[in-house]
Amino acid sequence: MDKFVVYQSSLKGEVKVSGSKNATLPIMAATLLTDEECKIIGVPDLADVRTMIKILDILGKEVIFEGGVLIIKRKPKKWGYVAPYRLVRTMRASFCVLGPLLARRKKAKVSFPGGCIIGVRPVDLHIKGLRELGAQLNIERGYCVGEAKKLRGAHIFLGGAFGSSVLATDNTLMAATLAEGETTIEYAACEPEVVDLALFLKKMGADIEGEGTHLIRVRGVKSLGGAEFKVIPDRIEAGTFIAVALATGSSLTISGINPLHLTAVIETAKKIGANITVSDSKIHIDVFKKLSPTNITTLPYPGFPTDLQAQFMVALCLAEGISLVNEKIYPDRFMHVSELNRMGARIQRSGPYAIIEGNRNLVGAEVMASDLRASAALVIAGLVAKGKTEILRIYHLDRGYEKLDEKLKILGAKIKREKS
Ligand code: UD1
Repeated sequence: MDKFVVYQSSLKGEVKVSGSKNATLPIMAATLLTDEECKIIGVPDLADVRTMIKILDILGKEVIFEGGVLIIKRKPKKWGYVAPYRLVRTMRASFCVLGPLLARRKKAKVSFPGGCIIGVRPVDLHIKGLRELGAQLNIERGYCVGEAKKLRGAHIFLGGAFGSSVLATDNTLMAATLAEGETTIEYAACEPEVVDLALFLKKMGADIEGEGTHLIRVRGVKSLGGAEFKVIPDRIEAGTFIAVALATGSSLTISGINPLHLTAVIETAKKIGANITVSDSKIHIDVFKKLSPTNITTLPYPGFPTDLQAQFMVALCLAEGISLVNEKIYPDRFMHVSELNRMGARIQRSGPYAIIEGNRNLVGAEVMASDLRASAALVIAGLVAKGKTEILRIYHLDRGYEKLDEKLKILGAKIKREKS
């Protein structure tokens, strides 16, 4: 297992973000809706993408992945329809094969993803959406097993206790493209990654409107064809570099991005003390002054993303004063708090809130990465802390950041990958 060894660093320069993980994975699942060849461009080389390749392989797709390009075509042999626990449990996005399998192959057996370190993550909305389209779904020995002789368009309300759901919207949307008649998804997720999936489906021949709003309308078509598509840049990776610049007081240019996907993040960074200039596909960030405390509430898009809560918390540990984080998507997503406190932070957790007493001097320590985004927060803390920080279990980070250590090194960070 690899670990990172990180020292206090000051960074400078330009970094280019990779393609979006969260856009790529459902788009890969969508290729199950056709027998024709699909080409996906700008794909990051990540453990999660490799896992999805394995799942598609089991489901009868031949996948070639080279130079950020995925070519996905049907294997000549018989189709599979089972997504096994050993793969699905490592990555919730793989549950997204359920909708396409039911729509195209009429049956599916997909393992439930199970629990997750960031809290309870149910899939009731996925099941609701697909059942309302006419799928018969049962739970059998940890698997969601179902068939869909015929899917029919329906009006589906997909709001849950925590608002909209990204992957439940994706699953329902994909199945609806081949359902008979018209489907409306009310309280659909508006995230840019959902829009990207809808644009890919349209290139395949789907009839969709309203993507990016809470009401998506789909008119079912008989079949979908192959498509070539470039995925959007990863807004969470871009936001992570904004948090790096804030915490380390660095001047960074973050390129290859869509700044319109980052409005809430840029606004928050400015409140904490960043000077940010925005152009078409880049932002430049300088930090000239002492950081200020602020309150962050995570919300569905276009609100501040839960996937950047941990990284921004590190900057708040350095700001002069008290900050409050209100985690409204995953109330238990605070695994990084105890590790940051071990490095000298003063954060108190109370239910979905974290109260951060800032102006702390962080000190290097041996810490444990617990999930993908928490790992990125620990890297940022290591870049600020006095002395040596060792971050164990960075396989979490490799799931979702393409060569983060190498990109940071080019900017001047003292970071090494070692065997632990
Ligand atoms: C996606 C992202 C993840 C991000 C999350 C929230 C991918 C691959 N992952 O995950 O990085 O943190 O959006 O922006 O795109 N919920 C239910 N029932 C359901 C499904 C979800 O109650 O059936 C709840 C969840 O527990 C959570 C909220 O809805 O409180 C939002 O979760 P959701 O948008 O579904 O997250 P994912 O799509 O799994």
